Amino acid sequence: MIELKNVTKTYINGEIETHALSNVSLSINDGEFIVILGPSGSGKSTLLNLIGGLDQPTSGSIEISSQKISNMNHKELTSFRRENLGFIFQQYNLLSTLTVSENVALGYYLGHKKIEVEDMLESVGIKSHSDKYPHQLSGGEQQRVSIARALIKEPLILFCDEPTGALDETNGKHILALLQKLNKEFQTTIVLITHNPAISLLADKVVKMNSGKVIDVSENKEKADAKSINWS
Ligand SMILES: Nc1ncnc2c1ncn2[C@@H]1O[C@H](COP(=O)(O)OP(=O)(O)O)[C@@H](O)[C@H]1O
Ligand SMILES: [Mg+2]
Repeated sequence: MIELKNVTKTYINGEIETHALSNVSLSINDGEFIVILGPSGSGKSTLLNLIGGLDQPTSGSIEISSQKISNMNHKELTSFRRENLGFIFQQYNLLSTLTVSENVALGYYLGHKKIEVEDMLESVGIKSHSDKYPHQLSGGEQQRVSIARALIKEPLILFCDEPTGALDETNGKHILALLQKLNKEFQTTIVLITHNPAISLLADKVVKMNSGKVIDVSENKEKADAKSINWS
């Protein structure tokens, strides 16, 4: 369970104050597939950075599994993140001098070591590419590697910031279908950020943002299949 209460984030650069988030309250249940939807600059990444313990709120509280991460110091936050959270981004952030299986092994060593590297590569459909280097893979395949590296730790929550932002429709849908499958298979809570409204059809819960505020939270009675959505 993730619980945000009256969370505010103000960036101050010199004399300029940016109110990136104002008074956001939100709860997310374990195992849910959450889509955070909003235009560029609406505060989506800021929200993800705060829930993901990459930054601290200006005010308000954030709890994950009854642990108040908004009160943690830098060191506590780092170990909380390492133990419990996984991240994927629009850029795949793979290490170019390591093979696919070595990249995924990095996640293995940081985590609970319950899932073997081979099995994880199989789950994300890139086992046949184990010994290749990132530059020998397509964008969609590289994103699979970064998902494998994040999930092999068995995080409580997987944060995905515009995970299909650099992919074409076909590859984007494959990645979304994979995230749907993994959400079921591992019961990992997924928090996915996008500006593509079609992707919100995949969510259990859709959080709409605008100008640093949550303007709507709605639940989908039935979730669409990633393959069936109209890409926009
Ligand atoms: N480190 C930062 N310093 C100053 N302003 C920032 C910083 N990060 C984000 N912002 C500002 O906060 C607002 C929300 O940004 P962001 O959360 O990145 O939006 P989104 O991910 O929805 O595009 C924007 O106005 C952006 O310029
Ligand atoms: Mg963003």
